Order: sequence, then C-alpha cells, then structure tokens
Amino acid sequence: MGMKGVYFSPCGNVEKTVRAMAGPDAGYTDITRPAGRRGDISFGPGDLVFVGVPVYAGRVPNKLSPFLAERLHGNGAAAVAVVCFGNRSFDNALAELYAILTANGFSVLAGAAVATEHSFTDKLAPGRPNEADLAQLAGFGAKCLEKYQAGGPALAAAQVPGDPAAPYYTPLGTDGQPAKFLKATPSVDPMLCTRCGQCVYVCPMGSIDREDPGKTTGICIKCHACVHKCPHKARSFTDAAFLSHRAMLEQNYQRPAESVLLI
Ligand SMILES: Cc1cc2nc3c(=O)[nH]c(=O)nc-3n(C[C@H](O)[C@H](O)[C@H](O)COP(=O)(O)O)c2cc1C
Ligand code: SF4
Ligand code: SF4
Repeated sequence: MGMKGVYFSPCGNVEKTVRAMAGPDAGYTDITRPAGRRGDISFGPGDLVFVGVPVYAGRVPNKLSPFLAERLHGNGAAAVAVVCFGNRSFDNALAELYAILTANGFSVLAGAAVATEHSFTDKLAPGRPNEADLAQLAGFGAKCLEKYQAGGPALAAAQVPGDPAAPYYTPLGTDGQPAKFLKATPSVDPMLCTRCGQCVYVCPMGSIDREDPGKTTGICIKCHACVHKCPHKARSFTDAAFLSHRAMLEQNYQRPAESVLLI
C-alpha cells in the first residue's frame, strides 16, 4: 500500500495540510512550480493519494485545472480530495476537485475543505493551520487510511457540497462592486530588491524576469508566493482594485471559519 500526497501550494498552507493528513512516510509530488508539472503523474490500485489545491475565487485555480484534468491519472487508486480556503468560503472548489479526480479514474473516499491563512492577508485565519488544526488533520488522515484498508466506498457526488460547473466567485471591493484586478502584478521596491532570484524560482507560472525581477513577463495568478518568499520584503500588490478587495475581505470574513471533513 502506498500513501501518497500531491499538492499545489504557492504559499505553503496546502502543503502543510496534505503532509499533516498523509504523514511523514508518504511519498510526495509537488506540482507548484512549472518543473513539477512537465509530465504526467500516474497512480494505481494500492495507492491512497491525498490531492491538495488552494481555493481561488471559489474554485480550483483556473490555471491549474487543465493540468489536473489532463495529467493526473488515478488508474483505480483511492484519493482524498483536499482544498484549502482563506476563511471566506470554499464555494464550489471541493465539488470541482472531486469531479476531476473521479473523472480521472480515482475512487474518492473522502474530502476536506480546510480553513487556512489567506494568501492576501494575515488577518484572515491567521496562523492556520495551527497546532490544533494539524492534530485534527492528522486524525482525519488516519480515518481515511482506516476507511481505505476496510475497503470503504467512494463518496457519492451528492455528498460533496457545491457545484463543479458553477461560475467563479466575483471579487468585490469595499463599495460592493466587482473589483477588477485581473492584470495586476506585484510592485517591486528597487531600493530593497537585491536581485537574489528567489521570486523567480518560486513563481508557479514562471512569470518573473530572471534578468529583471521587477518585471512580470507572463501571467500572474496573484498567488502571493513571491510576496511571501522575498527575503527582503521588496514585493507587494499596490493595485487599487486589489487593495479594495483585500480590505473588503478583512472587513467581512474575520470570523473563524470551520473546516469541513467528509468521510
Ligand atoms: C488568487 C487567490 C484567490 C483566492 N480565493 C479564495 C476564495 O475564493 N475563498 C477563500 O476562502 N480563500 C481564497 N483564497 C485564499 C487561499 O485559498 C488560501 O490562502 C490557501 O491557504 C492558499 O494556499 P497556499 O498557502 O498553499 O498557497 C485565495 C487566494 C488567492 C491567492
Ligand atoms: S526575491 Fe525579492 S530581493 Fe530577491 S529578486 Fe525577488 S524581489 Fe528581489
Ligand atoms: S508574480 Fe504573480 S504568479 Fe508569480 S509568484 Fe508572484 S503573485 Fe504568484
């Protein structure tokens, strides 16, 4: 029997969550950086695979879902669908991940939507997953293993909250109107940037110019990996519509959200 984990985790919360569930002895595949998504990833009967992604706009990140749909093969493996959300809502993301995994030949035995610190701000679910969360996630992982070993059935689609075909959540600003920041990219303070290249390395889209890290040359998914991982705090989002959305989230979603663990 092989315990496995697969995660897309720009800011590290999904990775922490999947590792807490699957444990230190599982085999892990990190699909966050472009190098982790070059080939197909295949499993088979005898594998129990914890597949984790963050919730972006209430769904599986739209730049990731084609990879998952085309390159992740279950071949009869069992899976646990795991989504991490930043204290607003997981909306339809768990239903979407469940549908992708089921269509790809996984038997999805369990699912989890886990409240974790929001990539945009440490005011939403600060420090989560915390010690108590990690203990809860480890307990859930153990129950998933027990269900797998007992030959338990896959979840039915009707047991998973959400609609895999629902539209993406529309981000709102503090004025209640849609906040349009699709083209926003991080600003870089040239006085702080040492051109160390760390942001170039961590960008999941490979979008930061190696020669000039101040330039974002490709798609930016606003994942905040580069902002969090710059050792000199040189990077931040300054786009007014983005900042209004972040302020709206901070005003409305500070209550501690509950994780949903389905088995
Ligand atoms: C572009 C983007 C969109 C997000 N959309 C949502 C959302 O719709 N609902 C929510 O509760 N959290 C949302 N989040 C927060 C992330 O789901 C959460 O912070 C998650 O823990 C990030 O995982 P990571 O730390 O592994 O990158 C969003 C984050 C980003 C970067
Ligand atoms: S990680 Fe920060 S300091 Fe390093 S190159 Fe990028 S912006 Fe500059
Ligand atoms: S440039 Fe955009 S996509 Fe790349 S790491 Fe930074 S926030 Fe994420």
